[in-house]
Amino acid sequence: METPLKIVLVSGSTRRESANTALLATVERLIAGRAGAVDVHWISVGELPHYERELELARECAPVLAAQALVASADAMLISTPAYNGEMPGALKNALDWLSRPDGDAPGALRGLTTAVLSASPGARGALDAQVTLKTVLGRCGARVVEHPPVAVGNATALVQPDGLVTDPGVVDALSGLADAVLAAVEPRETVLV
Ligand code: FNR
Repeated sequence: METPLKIVLVSGSTRRESANTALLATVERLIAGRAGAVDVHWISVGELPHYERELELARECAPVLAAQALVASADAMLISTPAYNGEMPGALKNALDWLSRPDGDAPGALRGLTTAVLSASPGARGALDAQVTLKTVLGRCGARVVEHPPVAVGNATALVQPDGLVTDPGVVDALSGLADAVLAAVEPRETVLV
């Protein structure tokens, strides 16, 4: 039987009614409708403590170890971020810092991973500004950032439906294109590790 692709979704917002989380939940729904087996997993950035070297060396923090193991075994990751003062929120940067850490001889979990970025805000720009540094940080962590037309959803809070999904046809089209781009770009990790 075909091994399912493992896709990890990460929302940069910890807000319960987050538009960024809603966009990713919509992507999850779209992926579920595609042909081929895909397992979707989430990382909650709010569950990770602030990065600390002593905590890392102790190797006892369950949410950190689980997130690192999940991403190390993933085929792709999608991140949706709000802009806090024009940048990704600290909680998201902290999560990427944890995921960037090597484990002995093993590289950080992000190295060689296929990633894609989207963003949303209640304002008109859809947090597009925050994508710039997010992509830079992913690159520094050794991730592959998939090229695709930018998906930055403005007025996003108003687009979230009571079921936590987004149904706006233009947004759904953009999310669908992004999901296609990510699934098409997935490569076995071994071939991109150098
Ligand atoms: C914001 N917000 C915001 N929005 C924006 O478009 N550009 C910005 O620079 C900022 N800056 C900012 C700073 C801080 C500290 C906060 C708390 C908020 C608003 C932000 O987009 C909004 O609160 C949500 O985070 C939108 O995303 P979710 O939570 O709906 O996913």
